[in-house]
Amino acid sequence: MAQKRILLIIGGGIAAYKSLFLIRELAGRGIKSRVIITKGGTQFVTPLSAASLSGDTVYTDLWDLTAEAEMGHIELSRSADLIVVAPATADIMAKATQGIAGDLATTTLLATDKPVLYAPAMNVRMYEHPATQRNMAQLKSDGALFVGPDAGEMACGEFGEGRMAEPAAIADAIEAALNAAPRPLTGRRVVITAGPTREPIDPVRYLSNHSSGKQGYAIAEALEELGAHVTLISGPTALQTPDGVTRVDIETAQQMMDAVERALPADIFLGVAAVADWRPAQNGKVKIKKSGGGASDLKLVENPDILKSVCDHVKRPELVIGFAAETNDVLDHAKAKLARKGCDWIMANDVSGDVMGGDHNTMIWVTKDATEMWPKMRKADAAHRLSKKIAEYFE
Ligand code: C5P
Repeated sequence: MAQKRILLIIGGGIAAYKSLFLIRELAGRGIKSRVIITKGGTQFVTPLSAASLSGDTVYTDLWDLTAEAEMGHIELSRSADLIVVAPATADIMAKATQGIAGDLATTTLLATDKPVLYAPAMNVRMYEHPATQRNMAQLKSDGALFVGPDAGEMACGEFGEGRMAEPAAIADAIEAALNAAPRPLTGRRVVITAGPTREPIDPVRYLSNHSSGKQGYAIAEALEELGAHVTLISGPTALQTPDGVTRVDIETAQQMMDAVERALPADIFLGVAAVADWRPAQNGKVKIKKSGGGASDLKLVENPDILKSVCDHVKRPELVIGFAAETNDVLDHAKAKLARKGCDWIMANDVSGDVMGGDHNTMIWVTKDATEMWPKMRKADAAHRLSKKIAEYFE
C-alpha cells in the first residue's frame, strides 16, 4: 500500500506544541506529515522544529515565491490524502466556514479536494460562543471531520471544553479517516426533491398523491455517504432526515420550486418528488360547504415544472436527473421525457405495482444514448447503485 501522507496545518494556539508530538506519533504509525504553520502558529512553534520532525519543507507564506515555484499552493492542497488542522482555532474555522482565503492555510482549505479533519483548541468561552458552534456545524454539514476538543483545565487557567485532543487521539482519528470508505463526491453539491406535494383546496382539504419519499430519502442518504453536500427539499413524509443531510420542508409545488431556486447553484439535481401537476385555482380561506356546490366546479391550474425549470436555468447543474413513474410503455415514455425536459438522465420505473410507498423498486437508467435495466431491488440498494453511477460520472 502506498504510504499515507497528511497535510498538517498548525494554527496559532498554545496547543500548537502538541502538534509536534502529533508529527512524531504519526511517523511511528507510518504516516508522513507535510506541515503548514500559520503566522499565529509560528508564535508558538518554529518551522525548524516542524521541519526536523517531519523531514520535509515547512510552508508558512502564501507569497513565498521560492516555495511557490517548487510547489504551488493548489498542488500543496492536494498533495496529501487528508488535511488536518491542529490546533484548529476559532479564527481559522470561522474563515474556512466563510471561504475566506487570505493566507496559505485558509487558501489551502478552500482549494483542496481532500477531506479535512479539525482538532479544535481554544478558550472555553470562545468554544461555547454561538458563532463558533455555528461555524463548526456548518463545516460538519460541508463534510468536515472533527476530533475533540476535550474538557479540562486550560492554559489560560479556566476550566471547560476547548482543550485540543491528545496527539494519540488525533492520530487515531487520522487513521480512521484515512481508512474510511472513499468519499468521491466530497465537495459536490446536490439538490434533491422528494415526497409528494400538497395543493390546498381550502383550509382543510388538499390534492396530493401516494408518494412516500422513501426513494428520494434513500438517494439523499447514499449521496451524503459518498461525501456530497446534500440539500433535500421534501414534501410531507413520515421519514427521518438522513444524517448530514440538510432538509427543507415544503408543502406545495410552488414552494418546492422556490426552495430549489434558493438551493442552487449545485453540481447535481435530482427531481425525485412526485410533484402535483395541477393545483386548485382558488384556495379560499373559507371551507367549501357541501351545500354550496363549490367542490363540483373545482378549477385546476398547472403547477410549475420544477425539473424543466432547472434544466433551462442559468445555473443549470452539470448533471440533472429526472424520475419517471409510469404505468405502461415505461421506456418509451422515459425517452420522450428525457428529450422534453432536457435532463441528462431519467430513472424510469413502473409504478403499476406496489412501488409507491413500498420498499422495492425496479428502475431503468436512461440517457440520450444508453439504457440499463436494473433488476427489482430494495430502494436503498437502488439508491447506492445510482449514487455510484453519479460518482463515476464525476471521476
Ligand atoms: O412527466 P412528469 O412531469 O411527471 O415527469 C416526472 C419528473 O419531473 C420527476 O423527476 C418529477 O420530480 C419532475 N417534476 C417536476 N415538476 C413538476 C412535475 C414533475 O419537477 N411539476
